[in-house]
Amino acid sequence: MNPVKVGPPDSSQAPFKALIAGNRQSRACLLLSGIVLVAILLLRRYCTFRRGTMTLYVHRIRKVSMPRSSSHPIIIQTQDLSKSFKLSARQQRLEHSTEHVRIAVDKLSFVAFQGEIFGLLGPNGAGKTTTLRMLATLIRPDEGDALVAGRSISRQPEAVRATIGFLTSELKLEDFFTPSYLFDFFATLHGVPPDIAAIRKAELFKRFGIDEFAEVKVANLSTGMKQKASLVISIVHDPPLIIFDEPTNGLDVLTAKVVTDYLAELRDAGKTIVLSTHIFSLAERLCDRVGVIIDGRMAAQGTVPELTKGRSLEQVFFDLYVSVKGKVA
Ligand SMILES: Nc1ncnc2c1ncn2[C@@H]1O[C@H](COP(=O)(O)OP(=O)(O)OP(=O)(O)O)[C@@H](O)[C@H]1O
Ligand SMILES: [Mg+2]
Repeated sequence: MNPVKVGPPDSSQAPFKALIAGNRQSRACLLLSGIVLVAILLLRRYCTFRRGTMTLYVHRIRKVSMPRSSSHPIIIQTQDLSKSFKLSARQQRLEHSTEHVRIAVDKLSFVAFQGEIFGLLGPNGAGKTTTLRMLATLIRPDEGDALVAGRSISRQPEAVRATIGFLTSELKLEDFFTPSYLFDFFATLHGVPPDIAAIRKAELFKRFGIDEFAEVKVANLSTGMKQKASLVISIVHDPPLIIFDEPTNGLDVLTAKVVTDYLAELRDAGKTIVLSTHIFSLAERLCDRVGVIIDGRMAAQGTVPELTKGRSLEQVFFDLYVSVKGKVA
């Protein structure tokens, strides 16, 4: 009987050679699958980024800019937001223009932090309203995306709408109805329980002096009263984020003060406000951070002191404008 061999196998024997060759093959296979896995993960991350979740982008922006409110979470993040409009023959004629397409917003990227007033500042036609309309999901971007409270304006517009209150002077209240009726109507649309809606209506109407005009048809209200009624109706659902296009447009100084004081109060209560304006003094006084838009592009953004460095915001704007356009038009 042969003695039983104890110890490592003799690798010169054929089965063990095959085993070693097999091990090499499986190591190569393992390495290959590792590389494929990493490639898939990178590809998935890239696709997620392109789809608009912008995880990578958030990190990049957090690193490069350190605004005053950077300790607060980002509530709006736009990335390369772009929108063009076809110009009708009539519009071409009116604007003495031969262009067929107008680029209103051109790869606009900015962030707004929770609990701040962020102002989009720019001249007429800069693209402010178009940007805010995209954020409010009234129009879709051609390219790029924005996250509003973590929801994509392109892919989750309903969820975005539930988070925001949007006011623009272009939105007109229906003449035939009264502020009280419209408030109740929009409260129902937003699913606000009637008892809570009634408390909010009483508070807001008193605050803005609408209570005396609550049952007056919109057609018979003054411009200021219409604007105040629009404002309270746009925030009937007490949204955490308020988007206002030119909030003081057409208002006298007293009414404008009531509105801006209220916006500051909302901000102090933790709401985020994104507004557009071409009034520099308003931006300087009210906004924590501003983005200056020229020709649909973000020319500068930051806190007011960061941008001004002791100069006036108006002077900063003129300098930016000349550096972009070559001269003040
Ligand atoms: N529906 C549309 N069709 C064609 N062009 C449009 C449309 N909406 C906006 N534009 C054009 O896009 C550009 C940007 O317009 P937008 O209203 O966003 O500017 P703005 O910064 O809000 O200007 P303003 O301060 O005058 O309100 C303008 O040249 C405007 O004429
Ligand atoms: Mg506008």
